[in-house]
Amino acid sequence: ASPARAAGTSTSPLVIAHRGASAYAPENTLAAVDRAAELGIRWVENDVQRTRDGELVVLHDDNLRRTTDAEEVFPGRAPWKVKDFTAAEIARLDAGSWFGPAYAGARVPTLEQFVHRLERHHQKLLLEIKNPKLYPGIERQTLKVLSNEGWLDRSHVAGRLIVQSFSADSVRTVHELKPGVKTGLLGAPRGSDLLDVAEFADQINPSHGSLSRAYVSLVQAFDGPHGRRLEVFAWTVDDARTARRIAGYGVDGIITNRPDVVRKAVGG
Ligand code: G3P
Ligand code: CA
Repeated sequence: ASPARAAGTSTSPLVIAHRGASAYAPENTLAAVDRAAELGIRWVENDVQRTRDGELVVLHDDNLRRTTDAEEVFPGRAPWKVKDFTAAEIARLDAGSWFGPAYAGARVPTLEQFVHRLERHHQKLLLEIKNPKLYPGIERQTLKVLSNEGWLDRSHVAGRLIVQSFSADSVRTVHELKPGVKTGLLGAPRGSDLLDVAEFADQINPSHGSLSRAYVSLVQAFDGPHGRRLEVFAWTVDDARTARRIAGYGVDGIITNRPDVVRKAVGG
């Protein structure tokens, strides 16, 4: 019998706005969260890094060059790594102009600011811990920030938060620190690796290019750490045709820069 979807509806995968609705607003900014909300999208993915003085900020790259004006504001600070700048310095940067003049002045949000904006819209969070080797202890710190903001309250943590990473060690750490938090491993482990991961991850989240119907079925045949079957969220799918194909494999979620396009294609 085909198992019920634990995360999505019975017929459609969840649609998750990747770095916010990042095809339409600068990625990982509050504007991208707002854009996802305007589109009626309930789940938002983001990426977390850490500043020199220990603040968690939402940014995909481990350096500031691509999505901010750090090179202009702080010449001579090459290679503009997030970990070499204070939170106050990063707060001065323009994280929107690279995307378009309408977003000039958008900031790199702290994790707190990001979750506050999600709360305003009643949205949920798929949080990616980026580069954990660069940031020792980032798992505990991320959970602390979320806990301070009330996001780990037992009554609703399971329904509103998933923490994922490409690092199996990081995902395992999150699970061990807070077993009630749902976790996902990015990638497509197989064999004994998949068996190991099922001890601490509730989801396996592969690139859509590495997905097949058989792989989705294989993963979903495993039970995760909470006794429910493993889920599969695929990334990053931005066109309707691919979204329909991937949904046909039975994935539980689709992570997309164009959540309107994907939702129209697959429902959810
Ligand atoms: O959520 C999955 C996806 O975000 C992983 O890749 O590089 O976009 O963080 P990346
Ligand atoms: Ca990500």
